[in-house]
Amino acid sequence: MIRAVFLSHTAAPSGAELATLRLLTALRAGGTVDASMLLTAPGPLVDRFRAHRIPVTVCGNAFDSSSLTVDGSGPLRLLTGAAGLVRLGARLGAIVRAEGADVVVAQSTKALLMGAVAARRAGVPLVWQVHDRISGEYFGRVLAFALRVLGWTVARGIVANSRSTLRTLYTRGRVAVIAHPGVEPRTAPHRAAQRDPDAVRIAMVGRLTPWKGQEVLLRALPLLRHRPAAVQLVGGTFFGEQDYRAQLEQTAAALGLPVEFTGHVDDPGPYFARADIAVHCSVLAEPFGQVVVEAMAAGCAVVAADAGGPAEILRSEVDGLLTPPGDPAALAAALDRLIADPALRTRLGAAARERSADFGIAATARAVTGLLEQVTGRRAVRAR
Ligand code: GLC
Repeated sequence: MIRAVFLSHTAAPSGAELATLRLLTALRAGGTVDASMLLTAPGPLVDRFRAHRIPVTVCGNAFDSSSLTVDGSGPLRLLTGAAGLVRLGARLGAIVRAEGADVVVAQSTKALLMGAVAARRAGVPLVWQVHDRISGEYFGRVLAFALRVLGWTVARGIVANSRSTLRTLYTRGRVAVIAHPGVEPRTAPHRAAQRDPDAVRIAMVGRLTPWKGQEVLLRALPLLRHRPAAVQLVGGTFFGEQDYRAQLEQTAAALGLPVEFTGHVDDPGPYFARADIAVHCSVLAEPFGQVVVEAMAAGCAVVAADAGGPAEILRSEVDGLLTPPGDPAALAAALDRLIADPALRTRLGAAARERSADFGIAATARAVTGLLEQVTGRRAVRAR
């Protein structure tokens, strides 16, 4: 049995944390990794971890790491922020040691810094599970370089959520694996047949934040020749993104189209099951894109941005369509094609459902377990 403490700076139900919740559930169910969660902030996910019988410790902290953002922080702010994370790391180290952990697994870049200190204090190796592409387009060139070097220096093992994410990291001499964030196998949800062109429903699921590109969809809609019957933007704002939502709502109102904002939902499944078409249109290369797999599993006809994870998941014209990121005209052309052709939607949706089976959570858990074995030198066998 390997005891692994997973460390995160947030308990908001955003993509990386939801992936962690599914992974820990699967690891514990396997019985060979005793996985627990260590959080430095309270939040809605704490109860969900507990509901899945995952032990959670929340280590409150005077320093609010959420105020430390890539775009909103100057160099001085980043430095004092980093110093705060290091101090917090020392306290976390004591918890990790008390839990008798064999390894610490950091779930974010902030957790990497805290986790480096914590793992050192506790005398155990550190693994960095990377959910973001550590690239200049996202972090700025200087910070991206610093994070890559930091990760390479402090982490013995690296888990990347896609090939595209792995390519942004330094891994020489480290144990590195790709573990796609898997989805739970579900019995295929009941869905109605693809609707006629004038009744088509479109859904886009994801946190409302500029790089996820909800605006690209809103700019594509007025270019459509076929008007959809309904467009749903499903997703919440967690990290100071309320202004973006207000701006999107204004744009949508001006379109005079039936666009609905649902806010955050715990389970997007029913929204995908009701949609004919699911849209993903991040303007930066998406690190993985769990929503793309979830939409495929629900049998939607999916249009996704041709970069990063979605380009690894989806084969254009086979199990969905890919369009260039940040291009409303190309997105509109793909949507028009799909709306006009229910048979094409049916074919892509059926193939998508099959393809989604390649991304099950059990495979993720196996890949992570294998890496933990290598990093700790322990066998992951069932405790008797
Ligand atoms: C982050 C990434 C997303 C990925 C998720 C799980 O939210 O932005 O692409 O699917 O983490 O790894």
